[in-house]
Amino acid sequence: MKTLFIKRTVRNIGAALAGGIVFIMSGMLPQEAAAGISATKHNLGSTGTGTNKFDGTGEICVFCHTPHGADTTAAVPLWNRKLPAPATYTTYNSLGTTSLDGATAPVGSVSIACLSCHDGTQAMNVMINAPGSGNYNAAGFTLAGTWTGPAQTASPGGSLGYASIVNIGTDLRNDHPIGIQYGGGGQTVTTPSGAFNDPDFKATTFATLNGNPVWWVDTGGAGRQKTDIMLYTRNEASVAGGNQPFVECASCHDPHTDAQPTFLRVANLGSAVCLACHTK
Ligand code: HEC
Ligand code: HEC
Ligand code: HEC
Ligand code: HEC
Repeated sequence: MKTLFIKRTVRNIGAALAGGIVFIMSGMLPQEAAAGISATKHNLGSTGTGTNKFDGTGEICVFCHTPHGADTTAAVPLWNRKLPAPATYTTYNSLGTTSLDGATAPVGSVSIACLSCHDGTQAMNVMINAPGSGNYNAAGFTLAGTWTGPAQTASPGGSLGYASIVNIGTDLRNDHPIGIQYGGGGQTVTTPSGAFNDPDFKATTFATLNGNPVWWVDTGGAGRQKTDIMLYTRNEASVAGGNQPFVECASCHDPHTDAQPTFLRVANLGSAVCLACHTK
């Protein structure tokens, strides 16, 4: 583990230096700066370039994060939205396909954070802590302002108010399973690289970061990067074995960048996203 931390430090220094270089370069090539979240459909504020644009604030992060007063029950950093109840959802495993081996956990982790917008039950401008001073409500409130783009009507509370797969709803039976054990189980903190119960899966990489067990599927490059397929460590009473790796929405998607279309972590050319995990 020691070596890993040393490696990480070296890598961080490398990253800092590289960051400096990118900064200097971006001065020369201003178009480089457009690669971040501000140019994606996840910029919901008045500076957004997507079809969903809200004039109540020019901030970007506030629709998802707040520096103070965040929801501490959420398994996502500094979360600023009300999370739906896990029991709201019908999940993939209820289809009962005979080939499914992985144990499932209640809808949670990072997935329920995505679903707080993508299930169509809450308006996009529902948040816990408003931008600027005032307006904090742990139960959530609706920030005043007007949307341009698709009207937020339809389903309860207003939502991504148009018929599109972007509104994936609360019936998740027609979506790739989430809240599901990777490899059908077999890898726990005591056997972090153990054999999978379902052998048709690619190997994981394991590390202890800040004392927490973390798994991912490496897609190249040194260490854990946002272009690797993230697995999310969950410890659920309903799943034997304690902490182990699970597949969640952000395993395949990085909500901050659409360097690849539809916020995918890697380009899906040749179904590279699917083949990162499945041996097929
Ligand atoms: C549409 C929702 C959304 C918006 C907007 C958003 N984030 Fe996030 N952010 C998330 C989610 C979901 C996670 C957890 C993702 C994960 O676990 O990989 C996250 C994780 C993070 C993390 C920790 C993990 C990492 O990738 O480093 C940081 C830091 C972060 N966000 C910063 C920001 C900042 C700064 C902004 C605004 C410029 C922002 N985010 C805007 C949804 C969002
Ligand atoms: C604050 C609300 C919010 C949260 C939280 C959120 N999204 Fe979105 N997402 C949106 C909106 C709004 C759109 C754009 C819909 C449109 O205009 O077509 C969108 C679009 C998308 C798209 C489609 C992009 C495209 O190019 O068509 C994907 C994929 C996506 N989100 C994934 C996620 C994932 C995964 C998470 C969690 C890690 C997440 N979102 C969290 C609001 C949100
Ligand atoms: C196993 C990988 C994987 C997981 C897990 C996953 N997605 Fe996706 N998602 C994809 C891929 C791949 C695409 C692009 C599909 C395409 O291009 O046809 C996509 C597309 C989308 C889109 C855009 C759909 C469209 O066609 O307009 C949304 C929105 C989205 N995902 C949200 C989510 C949310 C929310 C979750 C969690 C509940 C999630 N995804 C979990 C792989 C995944
Ligand atoms: C993050 C890793 C990961 C990625 C990426 C991924 N999958 Fe999966 N997939 C899983 C896991 C884990 C299961 C559950 C398997 C089990 O327990 O039998 C699963 C289940 C499935 C199932 C259902 C199997 C059944 O027995 O019912 C299908 C079909 C599937 N994936 C197709 C895809 C496709 C297509 C893609 C690309 C768009 C993809 N997967 C991307 C991990 C992944």
